Amino acid sequence: MTVNAAERPVKVGFMLPYSGTYAALGNGITNAFKMAIDEQGGKLGGRDVEYYSVDDASDPAKAVENANRLVKRDDVDVIIGTVHSGVSMALSKVARDSDTLLIVPNAGANEVTGVICAPNIFRTSFSNWQPSFAMGGVVAKQGHKKVVTLTWKYAAGEQMVAGFKESLEANGGEIVKELYIPFPSVEFQPFLTEIASIKPDAVYVFFAGGGAVKFVQDYAAAGLSRSVPLYASGFLTEGTLEAQGVAAEGTHTTLHYADGLDTPRDNAFREAYKKNYKLEPDVYTVQGYDAAQLLIAGLNAVKGDIADQKGVIAAMESTKIDSPRGSFTMSKSHNPVQDIYLRKVQGKKNIVVGIASKALEDPARGCKM
Ligand code: BEZ
Repeated sequence: MTVNAAERPVKVGFMLPYSGTYAALGNGITNAFKMAIDEQGGKLGGRDVEYYSVDDASDPAKAVENANRLVKRDDVDVIIGTVHSGVSMALSKVARDSDTLLIVPNAGANEVTGVICAPNIFRTSFSNWQPSFAMGGVVAKQGHKKVVTLTWKYAAGEQMVAGFKESLEANGGEIVKELYIPFPSVEFQPFLTEIASIKPDAVYVFFAGGGAVKFVQDYAAAGLSRSVPLYASGFLTEGTLEAQGVAAEGTHTTLHYADGLDTPRDNAFREAYKKNYKLEPDVYTVQGYDAAQLLIAGLNAVKGDIADQKGVIAAMESTKIDSPRGSFTMSKSHNPVQDIYLRKVQGKKNIVVGIASKALEDPARGCKM
């Protein structure tokens, strides 16, 4: 029996890391996406939902093959992916060439909503430029003019350092040394020794997931947290504070989410997530939840007819997402226009100490749509 396309389930494909240093991020995104769909009675635009998944292991070399598993083998209607910027570049090209709807629930590669932007590609997370640009001005204004940066050497780290540098320099600061370590290495010791010998005013880093836990512990163990203040994009302390313990105390970060926002929307989300998964929510779960909210808006508008891609896209472009982070809209290049919080780690929480940038919109350099 053939199933009418308008009757069959909507096929959702997850391309996310379920192994490696970013495994917890992929799992959190998946959990929260499914939770949002369950809150709709398990339906998207009135239709049942079928899930497919591929573990991309944050490996750019296998990204095209993995994306094609979902597009060609599973024939999914929409892909939710991914976490790693390098993988997201390849995935976006496959989505663009095959006209498959793609929602990026983490990876910040500027190009995804920049030079390789496309009508069928949306992001519910951030661009690498956003949290890092917001931090440069903060660091300079706090009187730290000579800064060392350290990050994994791949697109996310490089672009975060570039965004940070742009606003640090505009506010009178300078990067005295850019240090890079291969992804996903956690052999930080030689870099910490070099930082100690340079004695900068501050250090700015990008690490996330398992690697972030090890970095913060090593930074404290080297005695640097007492002498050189540590600043970072907020991924350093998201979903990692329990494991980092006291080593993370006092770290300042910028991100589009924080603990203790204490809004009815965020409180309800956090309670529901904890109840469903017996885990603490974090920025990754919020981004996954909002990927589902965006898709729900698109499919409700066309009553589940995902073949009406123009209708789905138009609805996704114009919706205002009632996110746990605070509501946001999509920019013309399909990236969230959102507040970036300045946070400080206190008692194993990322406490908001201010808004670093209000309604920050990525410049979408090179996007032509
Ligand atoms: C990235 O590769 O874009 C990324 C990975 C983890 C956290 C944030 C960004």
